Amino acid sequence: MIGQDLTKEEQRVMIRVPDAGIVRSEPERSEKEIVFETESLNVRYGSTQAVRDVSMRIAAGDITALIGPSGCGKSTLIRCFNRMNDLIPDAVVEGSVRYRSIDLYGSDVDPVEVRRRIGMVFQRPNPFPKSIFDNVAFGLRVHGMTDDLDDRVQAALKSAALWDEVKHDLKNSALALSGGQQQRLCIARAIAVEPDAILMDEPCSALDPIATARIEDLMQELKSRYTIVIVTHNMQQAARVSDMTAFLTAEVDEEKATRTGILVEYDRTQNRRDP
Ligand SMILES: Nc1ncnc2c1ncn2[C@@H]1O[C@H](COP(=O)(O)OP(=O)(O)OP(=O)(O)O)[C@@H](O)[C@H]1O
Ligand SMILES: [Mg+2]
Repeated sequence: MIGQDLTKEEQRVMIRVPDAGIVRSEPERSEKEIVFETESLNVRYGSTQAVRDVSMRIAAGDITALIGPSGCGKSTLIRCFNRMNDLIPDAVVEGSVRYRSIDLYGSDVDPVEVRRRIGMVFQRPNPFPKSIFDNVAFGLRVHGMTDDLDDRVQAALKSAALWDEVKHDLKNSALALSGGQQQRLCIARAIAVEPDAILMDEPCSALDPIATARIEDLMQELKSRYTIVIVTHNMQQAARVSDMTAFLTAEVDEEKATRTGILVEYDRTQNRRDP
């Protein structure tokens, strides 16, 4: 987890090659462990360039906020960190995205394992039409992590600050929960499979202020264990929750009538709640 690079065994699981076949360069060292590193990252949807030339490094244990106007490529960029763009027809990712020194887009990398290590929470809570228990157990079953299933589900719900509200209703449908509870359930579902990093694309934009505050508090609790990247439209939220802020903007080419997202500033967040 945080503070550690992948062991050979972890690399072997992630990269589908036999034990003996792995030869990887040592991870680059810096003051903090680097979890994600993009270099000259370009993303196109067909002929539309959505993101251009993004180079950035994200350190372990930081909450990094991606902010910027609508259409500047925030969702496109965050999806690069766990290969969710693979699922979008026409999306082409060029340049490099490394996760703990592994080329995430290497042909030998297993996207399923990538998405276990690097979980994602979306703008609209998207629980499955299953029970609360089965939602959290879903990824555990997919990944064969079913030893102590009850304990794992309970631990994930506790980590997501939802256990006390649902512990007597685990067999009830997840769809009966409030929006804020559903979003914490989705966080529990992501946490259950023991990820290293969690990506959140506007996780509070469908929630009321109280549910938003709960998720923001939860993020502060989670950051001791996970590296978090969050897209937010809300500058105040970025200031409240993040350690680092990346500001993207859309560069407009009036002649070609195109808008392309570029990273214009990436620095430590000002005005944090904590000194
Ligand atoms: N699936 C897709 N197919 C084609 N083009 C897309 C797709 N998703 C995004 N785009 C385009 O890529 C550009 C960046 O979109 P993206 O959704 O990443 O922006 P965003 O910053 O997340 O915007 P918002 O704040 O509105 O969520 C936009 O021009 C958008 O139209
Ligand atoms: Mg978006």
